[in-house]
Amino acid sequence: MELDLTEDEILVKNSARDFARREIEPKAAELDKSARWPSEIVSQLAELGFLGMCIPTEYGGSGLSAVAYASVVEEISRACASCGVIMSVNNSLFCDPLYKFGTDEQKARILGDVASGKVLGAFGLTEPSSGSDARTMKTLAEQQPDGSFIINGAKNWITNGPHAEYIVVFAISTADPVKPKHTALIVQRGMPGFSVAAPDHKLGIHAAHSATIFFDNVRIPKENVLGEVGGGFKIAMATLDGGRIGIAAQAVGIAQAAFDAACTYAKERQSFGGPILNHQAIQFMLADMATELEAARLLVLSAASTKDRGKKHTTEASMAKLFASEMATRVTHKAIQIHGGYGYSTEYAVERHYRDARITEIYEGTSEIQRVVVANSLLRG
Ligand code: CAA
Repeated sequence: MELDLTEDEILVKNSARDFARREIEPKAAELDKSARWPSEIVSQLAELGFLGMCIPTEYGGSGLSAVAYASVVEEISRACASCGVIMSVNNSLFCDPLYKFGTDEQKARILGDVASGKVLGAFGLTEPSSGSDARTMKTLAEQQPDGSFIINGAKNWITNGPHAEYIVVFAISTADPVKPKHTALIVQRGMPGFSVAAPDHKLGIHAAHSATIFFDNVRIPKENVLGEVGGGFKIAMATLDGGRIGIAAQAVGIAQAAFDAACTYAKERQSFGGPILNHQAIQFMLADMATELEAARLLVLSAASTKDRGKKHTTEASMAKLFASEMATRVTHKAIQIHGGYGYSTEYAVERHYRDARITEIYEGTSEIQRVVVANSLLRG
């Protein structure tokens, strides 16, 4: 498999790294502490074309590869994991399904604005009583004689929810106790009956606001049905195939930041007559961290390049997310260990990386769900 980045991909990765170092990293601690929505950074990401990276230019995107996208998510997340997921949700969970399953009219009316970052998009699958078992959602979409739908229910943990103009919402359109059918609907903020709760309080990614969204008899015109009526679950699953590559890249970025910090600290901190980097205990930790990081990055690139070649990438994406997210937890854990007591203090960034890494094992499918997906592909062949 060819995993070298093209010249264009290297260029875009390097420009993302320069931008993230200059404009995002200096603000990351403050964003974490204050849980402030980084509106100025979102605008800069839009200007750079990072909010609709794989969408063709005629729809407001940048027309780049999934490999370029994953590389940019890594670099942005290396500076600030919150900014990484804001970007990832807009790209993978809103623009991607709209481009793949939307009508020409929907693309002209909605995709241009979201891919260019004029407004943001979000993805509404999870509910208070259904996360991993997504099919058993309770939100109902009742079709009306004119083809419109009325939806009732609630979606929670909706990243970008408090700020998004549009949300792809999945709802049961044919209630069946054995095999309900779902329909994907594009909901616009401000539709009567639509409301958003206050942002969630979380362990990490404080600046990436998420919230519960309520639908009280919200009427969705038939022009806002995404894909086929009853075909929503497959849209959700196919969308998550791409989304999981973004989260895996986010995990690699967080781990890289923790690794960088651990190397710097190990060279500075003195003990037993020299820098702690001289101790084999520290060297072995750094060697393991570097090896795991590289392995995770290669899995991410492999999944992204499979997507770029137009091949099914369900298993590759789940493997990348599973390994990269658990790697990020291990690497950030070791980075704190290398920092000793200082690593436990908010004075150093590694405690933020440790908290931010944890969510990558949970959202867009827990590690257990990724194992289910990988095992299913092995069993089904
Ligand atoms: N692409 C297209 N279709 C797919 C698919 C894929 N990757 N995976 C499954 N399907 C299809 C199946 O072929 C099947 O079709 P038929 O009905 O025609 O047979 C249908 O979808 C149902 O498939 P399963 O029987 O495998 O479904 P399941 O109910 O057993 O669930 C699951 C499978 C993998 C556990 C799934 O429910 C799942 O991924 N759960 C986790 C949900 C998740 O990741 N939530 C994250 C929320 S978003 C988020 O976190 C955003 C954020 O904040 C950043």
